Amino acid sequence: MTAIVIVGAQWGDEGKGKVVDLYTESADLVVRYAGGPNAGHTLVVGGEKLIVRLIPSGILRANARCVMAQGMVVDPGVLVSEIDAVEARGCSTQGRLFVSDRAHLILPYHPLVDSLREAAAADGTRLGTTKRGIGPCYEDKASRRGARLGDLRDMKRLAQLVSRSLEAWTPTLRALGGEPPSLDAIIEELTPLAKRITPLLADTSQLIDGALRRGERVLLEGAQGTLLDIDHGTFPFVTSSSAIAGGACVGAGVGPTRIRRVLGLAKAYCTRVGEGPFPTELGGPLGERLRSVGGEYGSVTGRPRRTGWLDLPALRYAARVNGLDGIALTKLDVLTGMPELKVCVAYDTPSGRTREFPIDEIATAQPVLEPVAEWSEPIDAARSMTELPAAARQYVELVEKETGVPVDVVSVGADREATIVRRNAFA
Ligand code: GDP
Ligand code: IMO
Ligand code: MG
Repeated sequence: MTAIVIVGAQWGDEGKGKVVDLYTESADLVVRYAGGPNAGHTLVVGGEKLIVRLIPSGILRANARCVMAQGMVVDPGVLVSEIDAVEARGCSTQGRLFVSDRAHLILPYHPLVDSLREAAAADGTRLGTTKRGIGPCYEDKASRRGARLGDLRDMKRLAQLVSRSLEAWTPTLRALGGEPPSLDAIIEELTPLAKRITPLLADTSQLIDGALRRGERVLLEGAQGTLLDIDHGTFPFVTSSSAIAGGACVGAGVGPTRIRRVLGLAKAYCTRVGEGPFPTELGGPLGERLRSVGGEYGSVTGRPRRTGWLDLPALRYAARVNGLDGIALTKLDVLTGMPELKVCVAYDTPSGRTREFPIDEIATAQPVLEPVAEWSEPIDAARSMTELPAAARQYVELVEKETGVPVDVVSVGADREATIVRRNAFA
């Protein structure tokens, strides 16, 4: 039995889409286990780009089936347009895409509450969410109300569930100055979507178990990243789901004994989109350079991403909470030609210097930065470590030494091909 997890080790957007697509070459099943359309996973094949928000990043590889598991929250309109976009690229989803009937439905008032709350929040308390209704939908789930995808099979029952949830949200909507949408309008909108989605519904935990029993290779794809995890992230500036590797067991209904490896994805620098602490953030021309060379604009919202130096204590933290046994280091090419290069190796906190990521003192901790050697040669054509300039190689070795985790993959460009694979995911 072989299930592996691919998880973001920073604040999301580490290149999960690219690496999942790459590894799907040798996978039979690719499973998204958490989050919803707040994710934006970019796949670039032969220069052509596709951004998926809900559908697993393995979808462009005909050899693999794709599963959206019950840890997800699903906006049915987004799902149907995404299926259409994938099909329009000549890539069939028929018989290849399965959706958990237990995943929760994002309903029109969820994004509405999300947006109104963000607009009403005082400075310093705004989360900078993607406004896609993620928080309110998971709130419904935790409150044990709301509707699940399986409820799309019975529109009468669905109307009852939506009515109960809408009733619970109405005072909040009104207090925020919003108008609750009508139940009839919601059901009318959902009716044609239900016809498209119900044929895809399945007990996905059982489906994954069957695949594992047949000896198939299963890749569990995370969304967001470790530092956005509801329990282990920089709370409260986090998302509402279990993004870490352990979330794969909960979200996909796969027991921990089935997971063979966990691969963490990290950019060669850091980015964050939305509010919240980001100790190694760079202002000024260096930060701007990372943003423009790295194309650091949100794939979902288009917001400019905040940029900063690589945070090694944060990576050690991610290695711990996810149990990483491999790292894919992405976007190393973006560091080419940086006039100056630094990494964070430790933190100064009121209680002294620490090599740990100071998750509880993050607002006051000061990163200890060390300079590292720069390089100026383009590296996007490199396909082996020996083709990298010595300083770039040393940078990769520094990550290995500081985290104690081997770097299995070095990504040197957005395209599927622009990759140095040192160890296959399923090896
Ligand atoms: P995800 O959310 O983790 O899947 O990451 P996103 O797709 O949101 O953001 C990563 C961005 O970096 C996308 O635009 C990718 O096409 C791009 N990308 C991924 N790997 C590399 C790389 O090694 N080099 C460069 N230059 N771009 C990359
Ligand atoms: P992928 O899968 C980067 C951030 C938002 C905000 C916080 C909460 O593409 O890496 P939410 O809408 O989830 O309630 O927002 O989480 N966020 C992401 N940042 N990449 C993502 O996904 C993200 N999904 C959520 O910007 O700070
Ligand atoms: Mg993204």
